Amino acid sequence: MRKTHVDIGGLTIKNPVMTASGTFGYGEEYAPYMDLRRLGAVIVKGLSLKPQPGNYPPRIIETPSGMLNAIGLENVGVERFITEKLPPFRDIDIPVIANIFGETVEDYMRVAEILSGAAGVSGLEINISCPNIKRGGIDFGTDPDLAYEVTHAVRTATNLPVIAKLTPNVTDVTVIARSVVDAGADAVSLINTLKGLSVDIATRTPHLRNITGGLSGPAVKPVALRMVWEVARSVSVPVIGLGGIMTAEDALEFLIVGATAIQVGTANFIDPAATANIVDGIDRYLEEHDIDDIADLIGSFRTA
Ligand SMILES: Cc1cc2nc3c(=O)[nH]c(=O)nc-3n(C[C@H](O)[C@H](O)[C@H](O)COP(=O)(O)O)c2cc1C
Repeated sequence: MRKTHVDIGGLTIKNPVMTASGTFGYGEEYAPYMDLRRLGAVIVKGLSLKPQPGNYPPRIIETPSGMLNAIGLENVGVERFITEKLPPFRDIDIPVIANIFGETVEDYMRVAEILSGAAGVSGLEINISCPNIKRGGIDFGTDPDLAYEVTHAVRTATNLPVIAKLTPNVTDVTVIARSVVDAGADAVSLINTLKGLSVDIATRTPHLRNITGGLSGPAVKPVALRMVWEVARSVSVPVIGLGGIMTAEDALEFLIVGATAIQVGTANFIDPAATANIVDGIDRYLEEHDIDDIADLIGSFRTA
């Protein structure tokens, strides 16, 4: 029997394929298109203390080999998530990881506490790519001290595995990665979207109402892969790689450079069953290359 399970800070998942937050709704929306039990884990849309309407449209624009989004973290809020979105998963035996965010450290702590008391949440992923309103709007994830502070606060608020999700919008991502690991993160995931802009030359206005947005999709993959490789060499906790993964081959690249698991984001908008195809493709590769344990593939990158 081939081993495909991996361990993420004490959470064992049966294969390394997860959904990326914000690209798979709350999970149940995708049930008509694929068997959710094929997934290693579902990571749901980012949750905040109170419901949020998000930004005004247009908030998505397609760009070459990618998309720019400024959804603005629209979500139902943590309480409605627990009462309405979580129960269907009690019958489907896959781990649900809640992605969380806030405007203050206290917000993050409170959301983490509430989710920790809910049956059926297997882990927390902290989206630190959010502006801290108390610190003049500096993104938590671009400052090592703020990244430490928010991760440490969540760590003390929960016994669930904590994954810190890193932003690529920094000069050296390994500095932030080390900071969140020092603060107690059980794993790190990267990358969130790259900040971008798209202009309508007919009107000379931005395509997005928010002006800037986050770039995702195949266009970001080489950047994401480079950052995952750098971080995997810098920290001793599991690294979860994402950014532009469309196929099993893309996923394998991330595993080879050191990612213990991967997430699939933008690909879900093109093919709602993309994750299931990626699980199958990884299995085929392991079989064709006679690899009995996926652990032997992870980090097997050769540079000479
Ligand atoms: C429409 C959309 C919504 C997103 N919402 C969230 C979110 O709520 N929380 C979060 O941490 N990341 C969010 N992301 C970022 C993705 O989870 C992922 O980090 C990024 O898109 C890169 O992966 P990809 O190229 O496979 O899409 C969102 C991305 C998109 C495209």
